[in-house]
Amino acid sequence: MSRVGILTCGGDCPGLNAAIRAVTRKLIISYDFEVLGVKNGYDGLIEGDVQPLSMYSVSGVLPRGGTILGTSRTEPFNVKNGVETILENLKRFEIDSLVVIGGKAAINSANQLSEHGIKLVCIPSTIDNDVYGTDVTLGFDTAVNVATKAIDMIHTTAESHHRIMVVELMGLNSGWIATYAGLAGGADCILIPEVEFTIDETAALLKKRHKRRKFSIVVVAEGANPADVEDYKTSLNKQDALGNTYFCSIGEFVGAELAKRTGMETRVTTLGYIQRGGSPSVPDRILASRLGVAAANKIKNKEFSVVVGIKGNDIIATPLKNVTGKIKQVNPEMYNTAAAFFG
Ligand code: F6P
Repeated sequence: MSRVGILTCGGDCPGLNAAIRAVTRKLIISYDFEVLGVKNGYDGLIEGDVQPLSMYSVSGVLPRGGTILGTSRTEPFNVKNGVETILENLKRFEIDSLVVIGGKAAINSANQLSEHGIKLVCIPSTIDNDVYGTDVTLGFDTAVNVATKAIDMIHTTAESHHRIMVVELMGLNSGWIATYAGLAGGADCILIPEVEFTIDETAALLKKRHKRRKFSIVVVAEGANPADVEDYKTSLNKQDALGNTYFCSIGEFVGAELAKRTGMETRVTTLGYIQRGGSPSVPDRILASRLGVAAANKIKNKEFSVVVGIKGNDIIATPLKNVTGKIKQVNPEMYNTAAAFFG
């Protein structure tokens, strides 16, 4: 009987449990496989921390956020004898193949493991939506809904106090969440890593808008970097009353600079980990179920070293080597559509 290990790696997101459930149920019901849950991402493979997964184990987990297996940001090739230990544990637990659920870093590690002969299939999951080879990653839709709801709520206080409200969203290498939630939330400006911007231009845009409306919403992706500030991170050095130096986020930096250059009262909200939590949206539950079943079928058909994904409404599979080392960035048409509503 074939035995498959499932692990969730990297940043968690809503939909992981729905995917674990889909893989487990499909493998057990359709193919009579045995399934093992690997705890805490690649840590569990290295430490041999595994637990059997049954139909009962995944009962009721579809709507639950997070991951019942736990996760970590451990990358096997950064651990002394990591790969050798993993190979030993796969033999020890008689695991024939793996389903790795995670983002770019997890998939890059999976590619290296596959080059060492480990049979595996990947499911792309991250709220950042920056994994190449799929239109959408697990968790993205839920994060956009959370961020859009937050922007809607910020609107009322911005208007009441005639303020610039800066909302910092997640997305270290790409501005997908900021672009989608900014567009859906009616942001007056969206700043993302993919599109060069300056604080001066942003201030000029808002000053022009304030002749018409006395408040603004500025959405900033955490990886955005203003072109007119030399290495903004070092310039963020702030001293507190006790002389302690501390950094602040891009959102705080942009907020402080806009307040200075527009003379407008400005406040900053960093949404942070709220974007990673909560129950998966319906689209994420459906995507997780489709990708989970697709991954189980790839395992059954011994079609390894691929990342399953969605293109349009079709489930596809892309060779791992064509995905690793790449970042899917926001497409210009989408950003330009959002920009049509700036100011
Ligand atoms: O990878 C998803 C993500 O939420 C990024 O948007 C964010 O920058 C990062 O994870 C935070 O990492 P951690 O959860 O390790 O603090």
